[in-house]
Amino acid sequence: MAEIVVSGGQRLNGEIPVSGAKNAALPLMAVTLLTSEPVTLTNCPDLYDIGTLTNVLRGHGAEIDASRIGEGAGSGLPVLHMHTPEIKSIVAPYDLVSQMRASILVLGPLLAREGKAEVSLPGGCAIGSRPVDLHLMGLEAMGATIALRDGYVVAETPQGGKGRLQGAKINFPKVSVGATENLVMAATLAEGRTEMFNAAQEPEVVDLCHCLISMGAEISGVGTSHLIIDGVDRLSGTQHQVVADRIEAGTFAVAAGMTGGELILKNGKLEHLGSLATVLEASGVVCTQVAGGIHVVSTQERPNSVNVTTEPYPGFPTDLQAQTMSLMVVARGMAVLTETIFENRYMHVPELIRMGANIEVDGRVAVVRGVEKLFGAPVMATDLRASASLILAGLAAEGETRLSDIHHLDRGYERIEAKLSAVGATIERQE
Ligand code: EPZ
Repeated sequence: MAEIVVSGGQRLNGEIPVSGAKNAALPLMAVTLLTSEPVTLTNCPDLYDIGTLTNVLRGHGAEIDASRIGEGAGSGLPVLHMHTPEIKSIVAPYDLVSQMRASILVLGPLLAREGKAEVSLPGGCAIGSRPVDLHLMGLEAMGATIALRDGYVVAETPQGGKGRLQGAKINFPKVSVGATENLVMAATLAEGRTEMFNAAQEPEVVDLCHCLISMGAEISGVGTSHLIIDGVDRLSGTQHQVVADRIEAGTFAVAAGMTGGELILKNGKLEHLGSLATVLEASGVVCTQVAGGIHVVSTQERPNSVNVTTEPYPGFPTDLQAQTMSLMVVARGMAVLTETIFENRYMHVPELIRMGANIEVDGRVAVVRGVEKLFGAPVMATDLRASASLILAGLAAEGETRLSDIHHLDRGYERIEAKLSAVGATIERQE
């Protein structure tokens, strides 16, 4: 089994290219189902999850090819050409959806385009049960009939799938990125106006809205929690550049903090780091927007401890909780981390403790008492962001850290070992 091996102690210095965002590219790929015209995505990350969703979309009749334009040090920008002249199947099968939960994002577009959909329930994953009740609640509000049959969501629009979804007022009882994205896509072709309250405001949601508007969708309130979508009869094709990955950028910003280093995160947008930048600043890691990216510099030997509570954007991102915990593990003092989004997102804790961390978890709260030194060890990856946190810990640890089960990592990080070794880390992938 492939492993990633890190030898700690190297101060990182240099420029890292930030790839297109996984969590933007996935919903953006689903828009091909909304139009019979070609859609091209540039700056699309080359990730395992992109491959899985490509297979799901091909099953619906999408013609998809990925080609690279130019190749440079990390600047080989894969371009995804997609074209779905007609929907050939309304079924998203369990064997693919269970591999990648975001496949549920084909549900809204299939109903909007075809009036019918049979999408496997995605099931849970390591970090939580991941229900989709908010997706289904919104579609029912828009007139869809939803039934659960043999583990599949079987949905159709009014008149047995011949009618259109109807605009509706949707009040989210809790913020859901995926439900917001699914319902925005469905609403673009619905009859009438859809208003959403307490909608997700993540930059990936904004990027999706910008792409849909370039296809002729009528959306206002973009970037706020109050979205208004006036349905149109059809959407045209488009070319759209995927927004830079703020979670990847944040991961590398923490890497600078872990090693007392200085990095330029090329193409990164400081404003998209949200409150991570504030937390990093308080810990002694200063992030500044400069031409072409984010400048990150660690201003002290050991970071300061900072308390963190995860919240929907623009609050502190849950996808950076594990990485920030690694920083707090070597900080001076005690930090209290509270994970409010997912019920089981502390699986990196036992592995960090094996490296010498001092962490106590009680439900959603983790108390981290900083230690002066971590020690390399063989560790197990359990989920995508936990994997990243263990690599970060390995960068600061004395000795060698071996990370197994790295398929989790490849779902969300493009060539992370190549990017880190290019700025001085001693890290390699051993097949
Ligand atoms: C997206 O997942 C991201 N994935 C996640 O990133 C991210 O952690 C999450 O948003 C929160 O920011 C993609 O964009 C592909 P949610 P999503 O719906 O849409 C509950 C990563 O590491 N909920 O905002 O599935 C849910 O259980 C991944 O890149 C319901 O109760 O997240 C959770 O507690 C991990 N009912 C909370 O809402 C629903 O119908 C937020 O979930 C939907 C969600």
